[in-house]
Amino acid sequence: MSMAISIAVLASGRGSNFQSIIDGVNEGDIKGEIRVLITDNPEAQAISRAEKNKIPVEIIRRKQFKSRENMDLKIKEILDVHGIDLVVLAGYMKIINSKELLDSYRYKIINIHPSLLPAFKGSTHAQTDAFEYGCKVSGLTIHFVTDDIDGGPIIYQKAADISECSSADEVAGKILSYENEAYRRVVGNFSKGKYVVNGRKVRYTD
Ligand code: GAR
Repeated sequence: MSMAISIAVLASGRGSNFQSIIDGVNEGDIKGEIRVLITDNPEAQAISRAEKNKIPVEIIRRKQFKSRENMDLKIKEILDVHGIDLVVLAGYMKIINSKELLDSYRYKIINIHPSLLPAFKGSTHAQTDAFEYGCKVSGLTIHFVTDDIDGGPIIYQKAADISECSSADEVAGKILSYENEAYRRVVGNFSKGKYVVNGRKVRYTD
């Protein structure tokens, strides 16, 4: 029997992906415990989701810190205190670029991006971009976080047929329903030690 992993979630807004991780833990698909929610937005809906589930919340605001680096170092301090094994970025809309944080948590920080990377890399509205571009297919990517924004090794992708969508919102909704399901599953697999990283290649082992 493997031990449960300690998870931190970072979210800036609605938190539907955070909720899917909470559900995965509560229903036993994720062998872990969510030790902390970290958010940069005191208005985030994610906060009430954490409170309902007795998950501690840390609110850190950019304006409290002299630099982005200092903000990231505060995040690292929180992760260290909680002994975190996996950091899940779930709609966290700030860029993490502290070398110290990234090096300490190498292959332990994952992100979900609402496009098939490298398409719309670095975008904060990738679903609208895909719609406006006239894409027929878009999707989601779950990847490790490195100093290359949205450019770390890819763990999982799923394509979505958006050819029939008539608005950017419809595209976002279709991708989001896939995101919620996929993120929960990938975090579950991670908690069971099923990913092997070799350079840029991430292999799934069963
Ligand atoms: C999700 O669509 C996620 O992929 C996206 O923000 C949304 C958060 O939704 N993330 C990014 O665009 C990161 N660049 P949620 O708060 O309901 O999980």
